[in-house]
Amino acid sequence: MTDPLVTSMGSTAKQDNEERGATEVARDTDNGGNKEIMDNVNRKPQFHNFSSEEWCAKWENKTALWHLEELHPVLEKHADKMIAGREGIRILVPFCGKDIGMKWLADMNHEVVGVEFSELAIKDFFADHELTYTCEDLPRNGGKLFTACDIKIRIYCCDFYQSKQYIVTRFDAVWDRGGLTAANRTDHRRYADTVVSLICEDCRYLLVVFEYDDTLYSGPPSNINETTVFDLYKDKFSIEKIDSNDAMNERRKRWGVDCVNEVVYLMH
Ligand SMILES: C[S@@+](CC[C@H](N)C(=O)[O-])C[C@H]1O[C@@H](n2cnc3c(N)ncnc32)[C@H](O)[C@@H]1O
Repeated sequence: MTDPLVTSMGSTAKQDNEERGATEVARDTDNGGNKEIMDNVNRKPQFHNFSSEEWCAKWENKTALWHLEELHPVLEKHADKMIAGREGIRILVPFCGKDIGMKWLADMNHEVVGVEFSELAIKDFFADHELTYTCEDLPRNGGKLFTACDIKIRIYCCDFYQSKQYIVTRFDAVWDRGGLTAANRTDHRRYADTVVSLICEDCRYLLVVFEYDDTLYSGPPSNINETTVFDLYKDKFSIEKIDSNDAMNERRKRWGVDCVNEVVYLMH
């Protein structure tokens, strides 16, 4: 199996970590059994940036542990607030993976557009739902566009941060579970700016994040607290925290944190 540290950081960076006394600690995380780097001196986790190759490897190695085989409960509970009675709206799903929610929203006759690095995840999505599709090359950077034949779903296989050059649609809604939280910490501003560049004035954005003590665990998913959400989005949206649930489970206990909350924001 590919060593994610070597793949993205190169052997020199890996040696650097070893030289400053860091140890790789294998953990079964939401990130799919990733190796986290712990600093031996102060035992604080080091944040690691993920490359497209590492994300794609998770789909290939079947370690995409975040994927839910059923509709995400937050979407089921709060989709009406995002849709707000509108019919046939255009919904953006950044970092979509093969989220079942895309099919659920399209079945309500909305137009769904996902963006995802992994071609395997996209092909799996269409296969899982027995949807036929067409595939075309995007003009630059080797991306592809997958379009379902009988339902309004399009998935761009490309880097989300590059997607504005292909996507002319401006969206009425954003469904974001596992998007902002999966973005590298250094990309949070770029992520928010990309979302904002793709939306209409009256867009309603349903965002799910995790809150936990990130001095004990580095993610992903990233710890995204209220301050971060407001810093990223207050200039564009009014922001409401609409739900918060205890999200601790057996797997997350291994993060070494006392509590994990799943927090839901509605922005409009
Ligand atoms: C944690 S998963 C969440 C998937 C989905 N939203 C869900 O809830 O099931 C994050 C996904 O984003 C994809 N991804 C990460 N960075 C990306 C980027 N810059 N552009 C496009 N996709 C990206 C990964 O390949 C992965 O499938």
